Amino acid sequence: MITHEYDVIVVGAGGAGLRATLGTVEKGLKTACLTKVFPTRSHTVAAQGGISAALGNMGEDDWRYHFYDTVKGSDWLGDQDAIEYMCREAIPAVVELEHYGVPFSRTADGKIYQRAFGGMTTHYGEGQAQRTCAAADKTGHAILHTLYQQSLKHKAEFFVEYIVLDLVMENGECRGVIAWCLDDGSLHLFKAHATILATGGYGRTYFSCTSAHTVTGDGNAMVLRAGLPLQDMEFIQFHPTGIYGAGCLITEGVRGEGGYLTNSEGERFMERYAPHAKDLASRDVVSRAITMELNAGRGVGEHKDHVYLHMENLPVEVIRERLPAMVELAKVFAGIDATKVPMPVTPTVHYNMGGIPTNYHAEVVTLDGENPDKVIKGLMAIGEAACVSVHGANRLGSNSLLDLVVFGRAAAIRCAELITPNQPHSNLNSELYAPALARFEKIRNANGSKNTASIRLAMQKTMQSKAAVFRTQSTLDEGVAEMKAISESFADLKLTDHSLIWNTDLVEALELDNLLAQATVAIQAAANRHESRGGHAREDYPNRDDENWLKHTLTWLQNGDVKIDYRPVHLYTLTDDVEVIAPKPRIY
Ligand code: FUM
Repeated sequence: MITHEYDVIVVGAGGAGLRATLGTVEKGLKTACLTKVFPTRSHTVAAQGGISAALGNMGEDDWRYHFYDTVKGSDWLGDQDAIEYMCREAIPAVVELEHYGVPFSRTADGKIYQRAFGGMTTHYGEGQAQRTCAAADKTGHAILHTLYQQSLKHKAEFFVEYIVLDLVMENGECRGVIAWCLDDGSLHLFKAHATILATGGYGRTYFSCTSAHTVTGDGNAMVLRAGLPLQDMEFIQFHPTGIYGAGCLITEGVRGEGGYLTNSEGERFMERYAPHAKDLASRDVVSRAITMELNAGRGVGEHKDHVYLHMENLPVEVIRERLPAMVELAKVFAGIDATKVPMPVTPTVHYNMGGIPTNYHAEVVTLDGENPDKVIKGLMAIGEAACVSVHGANRLGSNSLLDLVVFGRAAAIRCAELITPNQPHSNLNSELYAPALARFEKIRNANGSKNTASIRLAMQKTMQSKAAVFRTQSTLDEGVAEMKAISESFADLKLTDHSLIWNTDLVEALELDNLLAQATVAIQAAANRHESRGGHAREDYPNRDDENWLKHTLTWLQNGDVKIDYRPVHLYTLTDDVEVIAPKPRIY
């Protein structure tokens, strides 16, 4: 076991992890970033449409409108103190990105270009805001590369292709992590005064998703194994426009630039479902509308199981300048020329609103008796891994890149408040990480009869069919029973490679173990929530029920059993600059 000592360790090198890494080194804290893939291959690289901030470069805007839209978009499950923080801080955080060197697209007068996105309005729902700052349709790529270059400039230390196995917890506080180095098979203890989990979502619990194969929510699973809860795991976002068959994302930016959806009758059906916002209604609304069109037999194609997204109506120069990657994706994954014919699309799992509960400083919190906000010392979470909760039951497009940057930055600010550079570390008894090593060895030597791919496929098919866009008690209950059997089948796992060096068989098995835990709590949380809200649409409980369900779900996993409890939603703001928005029906 090789031991390292740092002020801060960041697990994950996507947008959130890199922003936190850069922030902590800038503040003089000795920081290590541990990542299972090379930083610029992290999934943030795939983010397309942009990052929201009420800069007002292309028309009137105000961060208070952004606050209103985000609360409403969250279907009132978002914590309003955290939403206020995010929307206000969006402006300096994006200007900072510009100064770091992000190559944003520009307006004629040299300002950051901003496009329209779903659910983003002016004057509290009256007008359409242009709030999404874009670097063509490769905004995540641009941000990720810039943050990595800045982190290197500031001498952050990277441990690349290190698989973090588990948290090291002592007396309820986090002291660091145990990691496995793929390159030489060595095991490492990283001690830290703050461990920041920036490990992304759990999209790969599903068969069809826009996420990379590496998006396995490893940090979430570590938190469950540490005996801590995850929050709001039932809220899973389907992006309306994944490429049919392949699942790759076609950005909402297509509709933001003037593209639109049609069904088999050539009808622009969103006009019926959302007369006001139409194709730019929020994602939960558009995904449900497409699903209803398919269920009504108005899908296109041989199996009538998808719809068309048009951008051939847009001027060629708009496509060339602002949506070039979409033409490429449509060519590669659908075999069509999207400048001439519509793209075949269908709702595809895209984002997890749930994750590790935190406050707006990025500190992990849990329920402790009467205290719903007990801080777990030494542990933070940011980005899609975290549930701050700024997205509540449904995230607005382009609020994700924003969440990464604002809360990556907030975590760094909090670390600087709490940690003196080079503070000494205490000794850690090896008993603290013995269970993590035992689990690792057990999986490495697994010699049963089922391979990882077969168990993973069973999980993904169950989640895809039983925790879909529309849900009922009977499908969810079937899913819960299936997930239990699938999780138990992991005991019969067989690995063919038992070595320690670049063992991808073992990496995939560890990731599957992580996914199984998250699928289990997500589907049980969905079966437990008897209402429809945001991304959780119950056919048997079609209405939002604020009287009984205006609360966050907490789920613990103990020996395969799920325990459920609740935290209150923060229906208060940080300052008097905005007023609390009381729950009311959503009008589209
Ligand atoms: O449609 C998109 O470009 C996705 C953006 C997002 O999820 O924020």
